[in-house]
Amino acid sequence: MKRFLLCLIAAACLLAVGYPVIRTTELGSCLAYAAAGFRAIANERDSRFFGKVSEDTARCRGGEDAVRWRASPWVDWQMYRSAGDRRAKGFVSWLGPFAPDQRGLRGALLDFEYQRIELLRFNLFDNSGTYEEYFRDGRSNGKLQRQWPQFRLPADHPSYIQAGGEGSQKCSGELIRFRTLDGICNDLVNPLMGATGQPFARNVEFAETFPELGAEAIVRNRHGSRIGPLKPDPQVISRKLFTRFQSAPERCNEGRGLLGHSSKAHCDYHKAPHLNVLAAFWIQFMTHDWFSHLAEGANQPHLMAMGCTAEHATGADEPISERELKKLGCRHGDRIDTAIFAEASRPNTFKHDTREYLSRAYKTTPNNVTAWWDASQIYGYDARSRARLKRDPRDGAKLLLQTPPERSLEPMGYLPLLKPADARNLQWQGQEAAAFPDNWNVGLSFFHNVFAREHNLFVEHFRATAKRIPDDDSGLRNPAQHSQRIPYKEVTDDDLFEVARLVIAAEIAKIHTIEWTPQLLYNEPLHLAMNANWSGLLEKQPLVSAALEKVLRRLAKDGKNTQWFSAFAAGPGIFGLGNNQSDFNAGVNHFGSPFNFPEEFINAYRLHALLPDLIEYRDLAVDSHRIHAKIPLADTLRGKATAAMRQRGIANWALSLGRQRMASLTLQNHPLFLQNLEMPRLKSATGRIDALALDIIRDRERGIPRYNEFRRQYGLRQLTSFDDFIDPRLPADSAQRKEQESLIMLLREIYGQHRCDTEKVITNAQNNDDRTRINDCLGKPHGSLVDNIEDVDALVGWLAEFVRPHGFAISETQFQVFMLNASRRLFSDRFFTSSFRAEFYSHLGVNWVNDNGPDGKIKERGKPNGHEMAVSPLKSVLLRTIPEIKQELEPVINVFDPWARDRGEYYSLQWKPRPGAETDPAFSER
Ligand code: HEM
Repeated sequence: MKRFLLCLIAAACLLAVGYPVIRTTELGSCLAYAAAGFRAIANERDSRFFGKVSEDTARCRGGEDAVRWRASPWVDWQMYRSAGDRRAKGFVSWLGPFAPDQRGLRGALLDFEYQRIELLRFNLFDNSGTYEEYFRDGRSNGKLQRQWPQFRLPADHPSYIQAGGEGSQKCSGELIRFRTLDGICNDLVNPLMGATGQPFARNVEFAETFPELGAEAIVRNRHGSRIGPLKPDPQVISRKLFTRFQSAPERCNEGRGLLGHSSKAHCDYHKAPHLNVLAAFWIQFMTHDWFSHLAEGANQPHLMAMGCTAEHATGADEPISERELKKLGCRHGDRIDTAIFAEASRPNTFKHDTREYLSRAYKTTPNNVTAWWDASQIYGYDARSRARLKRDPRDGAKLLLQTPPERSLEPMGYLPLLKPADARNLQWQGQEAAAFPDNWNVGLSFFHNVFAREHNLFVEHFRATAKRIPDDDSGLRNPAQHSQRIPYKEVTDDDLFEVARLVIAAEIAKIHTIEWTPQLLYNEPLHLAMNANWSGLLEKQPLVSAALEKVLRRLAKDGKNTQWFSAFAAGPGIFGLGNNQSDFNAGVNHFGSPFNFPEEFINAYRLHALLPDLIEYRDLAVDSHRIHAKIPLADTLRGKATAAMRQRGIANWALSLGRQRMASLTLQNHPLFLQNLEMPRLKSATGRIDALALDIIRDRERGIPRYNEFRRQYGLRQLTSFDDFIDPRLPADSAQRKEQESLIMLLREIYGQHRCDTEKVITNAQNNDDRTRINDCLGKPHGSLVDNIEDVDALVGWLAEFVRPHGFAISETQFQVFMLNASRRLFSDRFFTSSFRAEFYSHLGVNWVNDNGPDGKIKERGKPNGHEMAVSPLKSVLLRTIPEIKQELEPVINVFDPWARDRGEYYSLQWKPRPGAETDPAFSER
């Protein structure tokens, strides 16, 4: 016994001495991390997760590199194992979930979930009058769904009586069968939610919106008098921080290229190796579905100045000299129409404990399209936009597609032109007919034509089935007579048109979720996360999935701990959630706050940098590997897009946009043509605008907080100086680091520095690690000269994020915005959750969405990035709608990856031709 005791004491002593050593090993850290259990969800904003983990957790998931990274302001998961382009091989991979790779990957997924849960908890701010109640109810701890009086249909709405009129409103019957034109009745008990004209929400505290107003003391502490609607000067920002450097300016000609579209033209731009130009136009095509601040492509009639008046180069604002003006190339005569506001009166306030809160932002703006992912850019969002859409008089379920004389050999046809009455905005004349016609270009023309063809192919397939088995059950039901089956032969033209719309919208959402986004964020954690959003992590384990769905139902019902809802939903996936319930609304979740996009979401989608100036045009009939011409993007805008599409044909545009690399999202990499964009509708002195300066102006006009507070509000770490932008992993003497340092000097020149004051508290969103308040000196002594990092515009800040997770074409700040809102637009939409079922989509429609078309599930060869994969949804669509490019598409795994690139091994970003494409000149360029 004595001996045993002695041994025990000796072992305890050894452990005590050795523990600190063991703890610094990965094994020791993993044990400590496992023993500590899950971290609690924060109750207060200053104890949020911030994407930062403990030392043990970091070491367990990513070794010493991850431990060191904790000192940086950037999220930790990017340093975990397998989050990059390397993964463990050999015996360690046999360790299953305990293998280093798996620890890294699972750790990253867990981090995303913490972020999302806390975003749902702290970042929902509805602008339509529901906020006070939500706040008092404990935010997302409250009910996931509720009925809000603010979302009743008004008495002058044509469906008012049908929805219940004065009494309790509940949509039923014809109102809930299909997606409605103006977006009403997606939520059965809140008819107006997401409808055209509803105000944009916010993701940041109302008091932090519109910092230029200086309405709050804390905001004045943060910015002094240094910021304003035109301060710092937006055109100076555009010319100094956004302009692409040209090694041969005469061959670029400010983005206009050379005479006759000569292939000798050349405009330099930083290129993203793993994304093509289709990816850039895709996202513009998407944003036109989700949001628009403009009505019929215009703002208010009043014109305002756009800067090009003051510079900060010598430490104070000074007028720009004539010489400097010439050098910069900006224009102080540019004018733009002022933004449309829904509410600009002072908001009401309410008190809680000792603090006063605003019940909405200082001003609100309407979303002039439906907020739903309903393909409204194609099908319309109000009567006028619907009138632009042309139906086929020979088959009422189809969209009208014509065969222009120059494309007489293409039976699938092209969209017709807008009629003069449809093009009230004079800039739209000569364009194809589309519900959302603004900022039209050849890329938008491409996607609108593709999905119009796809719509008609679905209709044709449905008609062929109806002919074959006319009396069979189509699966469709009229909710007014739910028990009555509808055989194929009884489906009317109008109903089939609406079913096709549902299918197209779901196909688009699927392409965006599992094809575009994983290519934009090209790494394994994101591949897993995006597929989890759509079909769930447990696709192959239906029993576990079903059990999780039960948990979700309970959470939704009792309204407790609802923050866990999004985490559990990753099991079965969001798409189709609750579609086995009798209640069509059962799977919908708004997390206690009504759905609309926040104003900050628009900021995160200001992606004009993605566009090249010149399109490398190729001709399928001549040689896919040859660049035939360099066509300025500016020559494919508005009506010219339509002419170019018809003249050259959709197959050649597919090939050209599919092969060329998109531009990367970074400073000094914006297209030149957008700085000189012609705007005839404004009838201003210059007739042009700098659309990049306008990006900055609009964000300020609509009250986007500046970059550092934006990050704090979203639960990310703040920066303390411009130097924090520089990637610390780069060697001191590397060319890349030097480039970053010189850009930082420019930031300092534009935004400046000031002597700081420790007495000035500058934020309510976070505290320092020691729980003291964050002040104007950001950790430096009182009176120090500090960078005006607080004043940096959000757009400029995230473009300056040189530190990016592997394969991320966007910054981590934008990703944070997407993480919250991308899943919300699925969770909130009945047609993507509980109403994704045959009653609405038909049996054919459900299968078409699930299988990416009519031919059942088709697998890709091999295992791209280690996964068995179905032929991607957009590849399937293109194979059907543009059969001429079948051979070109054969080796393509993801349509947004440059088509002739060799994808190499695990998430490679190399720029190398695939076998057979070695002669393509694009590969001789960096
Ligand atoms: C040739 C192509 C394009 C042209 C000519 C163009 C032009 C414009 C112009 C003039 C505006 C300002 C409207 C205003 O506030 O008065 C704008 C806004 C915007 N653009 Fe583009 N753009 C193009 C491509 C893109 C692309 C590829 C994206 C990528 C997502 C994009 C995203 C946006 C967004 C998010 C807005 C703000 C919309 C709003 O306020 O509701 N644009 N664009």
